[in-house]
Amino acid sequence: MPNVVVVGTQWGDEGKGRIVDLIAEKVDIVVRYQGGNNAGHTIVTDGKSIVLHHLPSGIIREGKLSLIGNGVVVDPKIFLEEVSALQKAGYSVGPSNLKISDKVHVIMPYHKKIDISREKLLGNKKIGTTGRGIGPVYEDKYARRGIKISDIIEPDSLYNRLKAVLNERNLYLTKVLESDALEFDEIYNEYIEYGKILKPFVCDVSKLLYESIGSNKDILFEGAQGTLLDVDFGTYPYVTSSNAGSGGVFVGTGINPKSIDYIVGVTKAYTTRVGEGPFPTEESGDLEERLRVEGGEYGATTGRSRRCGWLDIVALNYSARINGISAFALTKLDVLSGFKTIKICTSYKYNGNILNEFPSNIDILSKCVPVFEELEGWEEDLSNFKSIKQLPSNAIKFINRIEQLTNIPTWLVSVGPSREMYFEINNLFVN
Ligand code: IMP
Repeated sequence: MPNVVVVGTQWGDEGKGRIVDLIAEKVDIVVRYQGGNNAGHTIVTDGKSIVLHHLPSGIIREGKLSLIGNGVVVDPKIFLEEVSALQKAGYSVGPSNLKISDKVHVIMPYHKKIDISREKLLGNKKIGTTGRGIGPVYEDKYARRGIKISDIIEPDSLYNRLKAVLNERNLYLTKVLESDALEFDEIYNEYIEYGKILKPFVCDVSKLLYESIGSNKDILFEGAQGTLLDVDFGTYPYVTSSNAGSGGVFVGTGINPKSIDYIVGVTKAYTTRVGEGPFPTEESGDLEERLRVEGGEYGATTGRSRRCGWLDIVALNYSARINGISAFALTKLDVLSGFKTIKICTSYKYNGNILNEFPSNIDILSKCVPVFEELEGWEEDLSNFKSIKQLPSNAIKFINRIEQLTNIPTWLVSVGPSREMYFEINNLFVN
C-alpha cells in the first residue's frame, strides 16, 4: 500500500470521511494536515452515524495510529469532548493511538468571539463561516501572536504567551468589533487544565512521520474542506483559512513532497457549497431542494442547508490540476437516480466569451453562466449495486463522460451512505 492523500475537489462535503475510512483499513497511519473543527466528517457504520470534527477518520479503525499535523488548529475543549464521545461509544481512543503535533495552534476563546463578532459586523458581506474561530486562529499564527499546544502544556509558557497577546486581542474585540473583553485568569485557568490532559497526546508528529516513512509504514493524509475553499486556490475571500488542497500536506505535517504516491480526489456527482460566495452551477427552487433532500445536504458541523447544483467540470479540472489527482472517488451517484436529465457544466460563458479556465477573480466567477451538457438520467435505485456491470447504461455514460472531460480515471463510486455501499471500477493501488 502506498502513501495516499485524500482531498475534496469541490467546496467540501464531498464525502471524504467515508473514503478515508475505507482506505484507513489498508494503512498504518492516518493524518489530518489542515483545518480544525470547522470540518465534519460523517461515517455511517453498523447503522450508527459518527461525525468527526478534529480527529482523523481512521480513529474508528482498530490498530491504526491517528495523527494531527501542525497545520491543523485545535480547540482543546471540543477535541476532548470528541475523544470522550468516541470512548463512550466503545472506541478505544487515547494517547497510544492518537497524537497531536506539538506545533499545532490552539483555538482560544477570543478566536471564536472574534469570528462571530466579525461576521455580525460584516452583515450581508459576511463569509458565512462556521463560527469556530478558524480564521482568527490562523491569522494569529501568521501574525506571530498564536499560542501553540507546546505552550499550553507548560504553565509558564502559557502565562507568558497569553500575557503577550491577550491585551491586544481584547482591544481589537472592544474597540473594533464592539464586543466584550475576556479575562486573563479565566482563560489561563481553563487552558492550563486542558494542557494537563492533552500532554500525553502531544509529540513531534513530523519526526514520527519521518521515521514511519523510513520503516515503510503506509500513511494516509486526510484533507478537510475542499480545494475550492483553499485559502490560496479557492474562491477567495469566500474560503477557509488553510490549504485544503494536496499542497497543504507538506507544510501541514512536515513530510517532504517525495513521500506521496497517490492523490485521490473525492468528487460528489453534483456540487454543494455552504456559506457565501460564487457557485456557477447552483440551482434553485424544486430542483435544488430535491438534490438537498435526496442527498441529505445539511452541514455536519453547523446543520446549515447546503446550496446545491450540478457537477462543474471547469472547477473540477482546475482542482485536479492544483492537486495532481491520480483518480476520483465519485460519491453520491445514487442521489441522481430519478432525474430525467442530468447536467454537467463543461465551460462558462462570460461577457459573450467561452471560458474553460476557472477564474481567479470572484467578480468574474460570479458573473459566469454555466454551459451545460445534458445527459439522460436513470430510474433505478443504485444503493444495492456492487459492480459497474449492474449500473444502468446512462449512469455508466455519466461516469465515462466525467472521465473523458477530465482525463482522470474513476477509482470508486459510492452509491449510499453506509461503509459497504460502494464499488471499485478501477484498481487505484497497483504497486
Ligand atoms: P471557516 O472555515 O469557519 O472560517 O468558514 C469559511 C468558509 O468555509 C465558510 O463558507 C464555511 O461554510 C466553509 N467551510 C468550512 N469548513 C467546511 C467544511 O468542512 N465543509 C464545507 N464548508 C466548510
